Amino acid sequence: MKNQARKPLLRALGGERVSPAPWWLMRQAGRYLPEYRALREKAGSFLGLCYTPELAAEATLQPVRRFGMDAAILFSDILVVPDALGRKLSFRDGEGPSLEPLGKASELGESLNLAKLEPVYAALRLVKKQLSSQTALIGFAGGPWTLACYAIAGRGGDFAAAKAWRETDPAGLDRATSILAEAAASHLSAQIEAGAEAVQIFDSWAGLLAGEEFRRWVIAPTQRIVESLKREHPQTPIIGFPRNAGDMIGAYFAETGVNAVSLDQGARLDRAHEQQAHGPVQGNLDPVLLVAGGARMEKAVRDILDALGSGPFVFNLGHGILPETPVEHVTRLGELLRGGR
Ligand code: CP3
Repeated sequence: MKNQARKPLLRALGGERVSPAPWWLMRQAGRYLPEYRALREKAGSFLGLCYTPELAAEATLQPVRRFGMDAAILFSDILVVPDALGRKLSFRDGEGPSLEPLGKASELGESLNLAKLEPVYAALRLVKKQLSSQTALIGFAGGPWTLACYAIAGRGGDFAAAKAWRETDPAGLDRATSILAEAAASHLSAQIEAGAEAVQIFDSWAGLLAGEEFRRWVIAPTQRIVESLKREHPQTPIIGFPRNAGDMIGAYFAETGVNAVSLDQGARLDRAHEQQAHGPVQGNLDPVLLVAGGARMEKAVRDILDALGSGPFVFNLGHGILPETPVEHVTRLGELLRGGR
C-alpha cells in the first residue's frame, strides 16, 4: 500500500500537485506503433488480441516501454461489456465494431458473464508483474450511455437509434443504462481485484445529451458505478471522461462522485481551474496537434501546463491518439513533459 501510494499518477489522482506532471495517453497502445501492428497481425484479429492474456499484456506494455509514461492502460475495449452481456461483438477491419442491434432493454443479459472476461483479468495480472514500481496500472470501462449508444445502434455512427429511445422508450433507456452501469461496475471491480490501481470511465458520447437528459442518462448511471466501487474499493481513484460534456462538466464532477475528470480538447483552458476546485483534472491536448507536432504542439503543451500545472493534474490527450500519429512526436512530447520546458 505504501509503495503504491508513491506512484506519481496515484499521488496526482489523490489530490497532490506532482512535478513534473504525470502523463499517459488515451489509446496509447494501437496502430500508430509498428510493434502494435506486428502483434495485431500475429493475433489475427482485434478481439483475438483483447482475449489472449499474453498478447493483451504485451500490447499494454508496448507504449510504456517505448515512451516511459507514468501509467499503463489495460489493452482491451469498452465493448467487451456488451459482449459479455450476450450481445455478440465483432470487429471487421476498417469498419469498426459491430453488435446485433438491441430492440428493447430486456434483450440485454441481466448479469455479466465474468468467465468470458477472465482473459482480461489474466492480462492485468500479467502486466502488474512486469510494471516498474513507479508506473501505475489503469483499468477502464465504457460509460453506460456510450455503451447504450453502441448496443442499441449495433455500430458507431450518429447513434440516431439510441437518441430515438429518449422519446419512444425513455423507461427502456433507464433500464438499459442501469443494466450497463451494473455490468461496468462489476467489470471494473474485477479489474481492481486483478491489479488495476485506478480506473477510467470512457463516456465518449456524453456530449450527445444536455441538461436534464445528461443528468438522467450520463450522471445518474455513472453515480451508480461510483457508489458501487466506493463500497468495494474505497481507495481506488476513479477518473470520469464525459467527452464533449461542455457546460455539464462541473455537474458531472460534483454529482457523480468521481475522483478526477478528464477534459476533452473542447474544454476551455481559461475555465479549467474551476474543475480543479472539485479535484484533480486530466487532459487535454488535441490529438490532431500530436499528429502535427512541432511548434504548434509545443505551445499547446505549455499552455496546458500553465493553465493546470499548479494544481493536481495529469497530462493526457483530449481524446484517443490517432493512428496517423508519428511515433517521434510522442517521444518529443515525453521529453517536453519530463525535461521541463
Ligand atoms: O487506451 C488504450 O490504449 C487502451 C485500449 C483501448 C481501446 N479502445 C483499444 C482499441 C481503449 C481504452 C478503448 C476504448 C474505446 N473503444 C472507446 C472509448 C474511447 C474513445 O476512443 O472514444 C470506444 C468508443 C471504443 C469502441 C471502439 N473500439 C471503436 C469505435 C473502434 C473502431 C475505431 C478504431 O479506432 O479503430 C474500436 C477498435 C479499437 N479499440 C482499436 C484499438 C487499439 C483499433 C482496432 C485495431 O487494432 O484494428
